[in-house]
Amino acid sequence: MKYRKTLSYGMGSVTNKIIKGDNIEVLNYLMDSYRGKVDCIYIDPPYNNDEEYVHYDDSDGFDAWIEKLCNILPLLFEFLSDKGSLWISIDDGEVHYLKVAADKIFGRKNFVHTIIWEHRTSRENRRAFSNNHEYILVYAKNPNEFKKSRNLLIADKALLTRFKNPDNDPRGDWQSITAHVQSGHAVASQFYTIIAPNGKRHDPPLGRCWVYNEQRMLDEIKHNNIWFGKDGNGVPRIKKFLSESKKGLTPETIWRAEEVGTTNQAKKHLKKLFKDQTVFDTPKPEALIRRIIEISTNEGDLVLDAYLGSGTTAVVAQQLNRRYIGIEVGEHLLNIVLPRLNKSIDDLRSEGTEINNLGYELWSEDRTE
Ligand SMILES: C[S@@+](CC[C@H](N)C(=O)[O-])C[C@H]1O[C@@H](n2cnc3c(N)ncnc32)[C@H](O)[C@@H]1O
Repeated sequence: MKYRKTLSYGMGSVTNKIIKGDNIEVLNYLMDSYRGKVDCIYIDPPYNNDEEYVHYDDSDGFDAWIEKLCNILPLLFEFLSDKGSLWISIDDGEVHYLKVAADKIFGRKNFVHTIIWEHRTSRENRRAFSNNHEYILVYAKNPNEFKKSRNLLIADKALLTRFKNPDNDPRGDWQSITAHVQSGHAVASQFYTIIAPNGKRHDPPLGRCWVYNEQRMLDEIKHNNIWFGKDGNGVPRIKKFLSESKKGLTPETIWRAEEVGTTNQAKKHLKKLFKDQTVFDTPKPEALIRRIIEISTNEGDLVLDAYLGSGTTAVVAQQLNRRYIGIEVGEHLLNIVLPRLNKSIDDLRSEGTEINNLGYELWSEDRTE
C-alpha cells in the first residue's frame, strides 16, 4: 500500500504526519524512512474487552487480538531510537497475557516497568471489585540509554502537595522516602540495627538492607535527615527536601488521578470540544500523555502513536514542541482528530507559543494506481 499527502494544516514546512490507514500497513510503508528514529512510542490499543464502541470495535476475541499485537510490536520496536521507549496502555483483563507476549518479542531485559494509573476515582458498585486502575507497560530499546536520557518530573502542584513539614524543619517542606532497599546487590556494611533517638531498635525487613552504611546513617540521623515518625517510634525514613526536589523528581510507578487525570475527565474534555457529537468512548487524559512524553523525550524529538483514537498523543506532542506521527484507521480521524488538532494548533498560534513545527500533513491511501 502507498500513501500520499492529501492535506496540510499549520505554518511553514511541517514534518508531523497524521496517517489514515491500518497501522501495520502504514508502519511497513514508513519503515525505511523512520527506522531507529522514534524516541517515544505510545500505544493504546483495543483492550479485548468485548465492547462494540461507537467509533471502533473491540470484540475480535483473544486469539485475533493477541495476534494483531504480536504482529505490530516487533515492527514498532524497529522504529525506536537508541534512547527510545515504548509505552503500552492496557487494563487488568489482558495485562498479564500481553506482558508475557511482549517479553517474548522484546526480551525481558528490555522491560523497564509497569506503571499503575488511577483511571477513575469514583467507586464502581456493580462488580465484586471497583476497578480503579489501568496499566502502562514500559519497554526500552536499550534500558541503560533510556535511564540516562529520561527526564525527571517537574514538580507540579499535585506533586508539591506531598511535601509537608511536620517537624518544623527550618530547611522547609519535605517528604519521606523509604530508607531500605532490596538486598540483592547489598554489601555487608548495609546490614545493621539502627538505634532511633528514643532508643528503639530497627532492623531492615527480610530481604532488604539499609540504603546507607552505618556511619553514613548515623551522620544523617545527627543532621536530622532521618524521620522516625511523629512519635519517634516509626520505621526510619529518609527526608527529601522540596528545595532539592525542585530540580526534578524520579518518576514513580503509581500515577494518581489528581496528577494525570481520569478517563472521565478526558471524556468531559472532548465533550466540551465536540458539543453536538457522540463523544469518543476511550480517550486518555492529555495530562497522562504529557507525563509520558515529558519523561521520555525532549523538544524536537519524534513521538509515534499507532492507535491515535481521538488524537490525544498528537495534540500533546504538538503542545510540547515534539515532532509526531499519528496513525488511525477509523473515520473519526477526519471528524474528531483533525478538528481537535486544528483547534489546538490555532490556540498555540494565537498564544504566540514558540513551536518550530506547528502543523501536520494528512496522508491517506493512494488509490490512484
Ligand atoms: C483505545 S483507542 C485509542 C484512544 C487514544 N489513546 C485517545 O486518547 O483517544 C484505540 C484506537 O485504535 C484504533 N485502531 C484499532 N485498530 C487499528 C489499526 N489496525 N490501525 C489503526 N488504528 C487502529 C481504533 O480505531 C481506536 O481509535
